[in-house]
Amino acid sequence: MELTWVTMVLLGLVVMLILLVVLQPDSRGMPPGPKGLPLVGNLFDLLWEDSITFFSRLSKEYGPLYSVQLGLRRVVVLNSSHWLTQAFVRQGDMFNHRPRGTVLSFIMRGKGIADAEDRVWRESRRFTLHVLRDFGMGKRSVETYVNRELQDFLEAAQEKVGKPYNVHYDLATSVLNIVWHMFVGERFPMGDKNLKWIVDSLEMSLTLVEQGGFLNYTPFLQFIGTFCKPKAVKVGRNVAHRLDYFTKLIQKHKDTLDDPDRGFDFMYQYLLHQREEQRQGKTDTIFTDNQLMWLVSDMFIVGLDTTVTTLRWCYLFLLREPQIQQRLYQEIEAVIGSDRFPTYEDRLRMPYTEAFITEVFRFGSITPLALHGNPEETQLGGYRIPKRSWVVGNIWGIHWDSKVWGDPENFRPERFLNDEGQLVRSEHVLAFSVGRRNCLGESLARIEAFQFLTAMLQKYEFTVPPGQDPPSTSFHCGVTLNPTEFNMVLKERSAKAA
Ligand code: HEM
Repeated sequence: MELTWVTMVLLGLVVMLILLVVLQPDSRGMPPGPKGLPLVGNLFDLLWEDSITFFSRLSKEYGPLYSVQLGLRRVVVLNSSHWLTQAFVRQGDMFNHRPRGTVLSFIMRGKGIADAEDRVWRESRRFTLHVLRDFGMGKRSVETYVNRELQDFLEAAQEKVGKPYNVHYDLATSVLNIVWHMFVGERFPMGDKNLKWIVDSLEMSLTLVEQGGFLNYTPFLQFIGTFCKPKAVKVGRNVAHRLDYFTKLIQKHKDTLDDPDRGFDFMYQYLLHQREEQRQGKTDTIFTDNQLMWLVSDMFIVGLDTTVTTLRWCYLFLLREPQIQQRLYQEIEAVIGSDRFPTYEDRLRMPYTEAFITEVFRFGSITPLALHGNPEETQLGGYRIPKRSWVVGNIWGIHWDSKVWGDPENFRPERFLNDEGQLVRSEHVLAFSVGRRNCLGESLARIEAFQFLTAMLQKYEFTVPPGQDPPSTSFHCGVTLNPTEFNMVLKERSAKAA
């Protein structure tokens, strides 16, 4: 009997040993980092700490390039602009992959653009950039799309003057309409039921996933942990409904492709390219209806929440910092006045406004983590980076590094101005990331941020609702960093003067 027990214990130990040898990731030659527990590493830290605080805490101990075991993987973390550039720019071909097995990749299935790889990613990205350039990305014509929606947004805001107003929904509908108009050629009237449904469903999808969180490293719990939440059923149904809606839109575009009066949106350009490839007899094309459906779906997801969150941080700081708001308004009065609409070109003469937006990008770190992967074993800074590692660019950590910024917790646009009041750009602000995977919509996002900030400030003073505290800077860490909901009261500038 005793022998049986001893045998079982010994057997258990042998199994444990084998598991350790087989499953424990090989960290030889990798960047330094904590040892953690066998087989799980530091995984359980992520149960009580969000990923961005966790990654930043470790960088204080192990430096800007380190590795940490999370479950059965050793993840490489880049915590400085230097290492982000070394990996994503200098070795752009190697580190332009996306890690497989994350919650996001489970949802996005390697299709579309943001989660795609290899040829699908390369050709989709090249084509999308090409069409966006044709739209005049970064030039006047994109501004026309932006200003069209901004007008409706200002009208919606006008109805809320003097009352507590949570701007989130009106902002989201306008921003979505910009992308919608450019990509599928349609616009929704403000308050439209379909539009509300799309906005809700897109925003909800992103709150379901924490980009660097616990579930990414526990494949066996990933499905249960993500999809057994009450809102997951709704999100799942909405995704199916959304893709079905896109399929119908694709058909509608196909039916009118030869119509001389048709529009010039992205979907038409894609279908024309698809037809051209078919004419040339290409059989291995990536320009399929299915890829188009996922690509458009991606653009809505990445184009909506990021911009809305940026603007919500902007408005939040106007409420928290009345002196900063006043200084911004003085610059608007001096450069634009009140008789004309702001133009994106005005920014060139508005360094304080530019510094404010840059500080929002730093403080808010809207997309806090950039997750990349490498298909082959390589070296970084003399360290071994094994094949198919997960490489996390900790954008938030860089933006909040006290060695770089001194007082990162304070919101100070002045940190981007020199003694003459001119804008000073910093290589340490990397809100749109760097390298081949950098944000494809940066120019659009910058125009949106400038126009929606200045046009609102030109017309209204932002105040905290009576009896309430200024909104807090606490946030929810999903794929984006979202400030908690807040209300504001808008006062019309002219009414104030009267
Ligand atoms: C302020 C707003 C925005 C911020 C802060 C932002 C930031 C980012 C970041 C950090 C990435 C990841 C880069 C990486 O993995 O290294 C990204 C990717 C991407 N962004 Fe943005 N973004 C914004 C707005 C937009 C808009 C408006 C669009 C388009 C309508 C867009 C389209 C994309 C796409 C398609 C990708 C994936 C690129 C790829 O994987 O090749 N983004 N963005």
